[in-house]
Amino acid sequence: MKLNVNGTVCDIRSPAHARLSDVLRDELKLTGTKVGCNAGDCGACSVSIDGRVACSCLVAVGQVDGAEITTVEGLTRNGTMSALQQSFLHHGAAQCGICTPGMLLTAVDLLDRVARPSRSNVENALGGVLCRCTGYAKIVDAVMDVADGSKVILPAAGEAVGAAIARLDGVAKVDGREAYGADVVPEDALHLAVIRSPHHRARFTVGDTATFMAQHPGVVAVFTAKDVPGLNRFGAIPAFIDQPVFAEEEAIFRGEAVVAVVGEREAIRRLDSSSFPVTWQPLPAALVPREALAAGSHFIQPGRPKNTLVEGRVERGGVERAIANAAHSITQSFTTPFVEHAYIEPEAGYAMREGNRVTVYGCTQAPHMDRDSLADILGVARSDVRVLPSACGGGFGSKLDLSFQPFIAVAAWHLKRPVAIAYSRQESMQSTTKRHPSDISITVACDGDGQLMATDFDGVFNTGAYASWGPTVANRVPVHASGPYFTPHYRAHSAAVLSNCMPSGAFRGFGVPQSLIALECALDLLAERAGLDQLAFRRKNALRNGLPTVTGQIFHQGVGIVECLDALAPRWRAAQDDAAAFNGSQNGGPLRRGVGLATCWYGCGNTSLPNPSTIKVAISQDGHVVLHQGAVDIGQGSNTVIAQICADALGLPLAMFRLKGADTAISPDAGKTSASRQTFVTGKAA
Ligand code: FES
Ligand code: FES
Repeated sequence: MKLNVNGTVCDIRSPAHARLSDVLRDELKLTGTKVGCNAGDCGACSVSIDGRVACSCLVAVGQVDGAEITTVEGLTRNGTMSALQQSFLHHGAAQCGICTPGMLLTAVDLLDRVARPSRSNVENALGGVLCRCTGYAKIVDAVMDVADGSKVILPAAGEAVGAAIARLDGVAKVDGREAYGADVVPEDALHLAVIRSPHHRARFTVGDTATFMAQHPGVVAVFTAKDVPGLNRFGAIPAFIDQPVFAEEEAIFRGEAVVAVVGEREAIRRLDSSSFPVTWQPLPAALVPREALAAGSHFIQPGRPKNTLVEGRVERGGVERAIANAAHSITQSFTTPFVEHAYIEPEAGYAMREGNRVTVYGCTQAPHMDRDSLADILGVARSDVRVLPSACGGGFGSKLDLSFQPFIAVAAWHLKRPVAIAYSRQESMQSTTKRHPSDISITVACDGDGQLMATDFDGVFNTGAYASWGPTVANRVPVHASGPYFTPHYRAHSAAVLSNCMPSGAFRGFGVPQSLIALECALDLLAERAGLDQLAFRRKNALRNGLPTVTGQIFHQGVGIVECLDALAPRWRAAQDDAAAFNGSQNGGPLRRGVGLATCWYGCGNTSLPNPSTIKVAISQDGHVVLHQGAVDIGQGSNTVIAQICADALGLPLAMFRLKGADTAISPDAGKTSASRQTFVTGKAA
């Protein structure tokens, strides 16, 4: 077979049934084409085939023998990016960038057919490519504005902060060179597959692995818990390190790892995990807190007899008396479910051993935390583990936790060969952390004028089988469940309850969004009871400079919620009028339009804990400023923002800066990329 790829005719050795995406990535090394789902759902693998865009993961290469294929690498000609790529760069349309190649190829397809597309043309055309970062607006702007795309300018000294500049690391995201976890695999790497529990809870026995290996040529090793050289445990918070790399005798959530199988790429690709010899003895499981807390429930983990991981509490004033004396009160209950982060890039990377040192390359939000945990797992000094973050195709909290790293680190340690892994979408969804489901009861009360008197909050959070960030959720929720309102009497209790589900972890807000769903819905009802418009009620009760929060913290300046609500007021009234007009026009028909309003507050960084960050700046021999920017940029822009802050701090133009990304061997610890902390904390360090 032959393909004409980006103008070059290539002989293809892969079998005819191979996916075109795999041929492009693995055989032709054109890793600009991404694989997010391998199932035709995400569009990350979109390429042009004979002038029409298609999902290359759904195309067998034999079907397109002789075709002209254009990938993202083919959009840059003679070193010059196309107008569309420049427009993406200028508009900030690539954040993490993992969807960008597919977006670009899809937009090219549209622009080839429609020279001046309308906004809805663009929205419809790009609808098959998923983006989890941008909200699409900037991508649509970039396509609409393609003729006007070349505006990349860097500001003068002292003018970097506040300047609307292109991302300093943006070019690689739009020309296909950005390397994510699965994009770099050493030539001699072995590959690894994880055998996972198919049961919510089961005892298990591993069978005859020698016979299994003999029956599977190309498989070179099998690893279980007894092969972990150091501590068979990891976790996000030192006092709660409870998750084994491999389960020992009993698996306590469906998807928990029990065995790793390592072999040549094709052997691992062909592996049917159900052929691995494990005997399962399913046991009763508790999937929701109600079951885990019931009398007589089994213990999810030894040493946690009540199946309660941790509780949090904040109290202020006298809630019961305040509610009894209030003119109006509302009591409501709410539940929210698990939510998957659904970043487009599944977890991936490789590990290699050099002497007694292991390097782990791959996607992460927390390289130094990974390094420390991996050193404990391998039983080596921290300086003997190097974590080298790849570009990160979205994380949103889940990539704060270790996932694939321990398996490949243990395998590389024993085999002294590089070992690579790329999770499938199914494996990613099955085994990595989720947003905590919540079960919340809340009472809010106000006086006859609508002045908030009290909030009484109780939230139970399903934290799954292992701790992950459950303690953070349980501690952060009571601090934030008041919302940005002055609340003189307050009681908030939260509990993170263990269950036989996959671990719940960090996900944009650490439990605060779940809490505020309950609070804001209850406040709407209370405002109605008090005869006040929802916005007027919130404005009346909003925190102001000098008023204490429920933990007694007083902000003397910068509390901006009243200004936010005032800015919103004209649109709020217009939206209400629109809805009323629409509903009045329905003549008894079934459709109704509603308008909603909610506020949110959220603390940047760790809750009530030290939160350090370190930045290193050096001067190169050729006179450039080298910024060791260890705050992992997962799409939020820290590579650019921290450089902007550093440039103004030094009074130097951004053009003098060279960036060095996170690498635990050379960059100082800028802390994890989570809790919206990097601009604030690492920015302060810069
Ligand atoms: Fe092909 Fe998602 S559509 S990887
Ligand atoms: Fe689209 Fe991250 S920029 S998924």
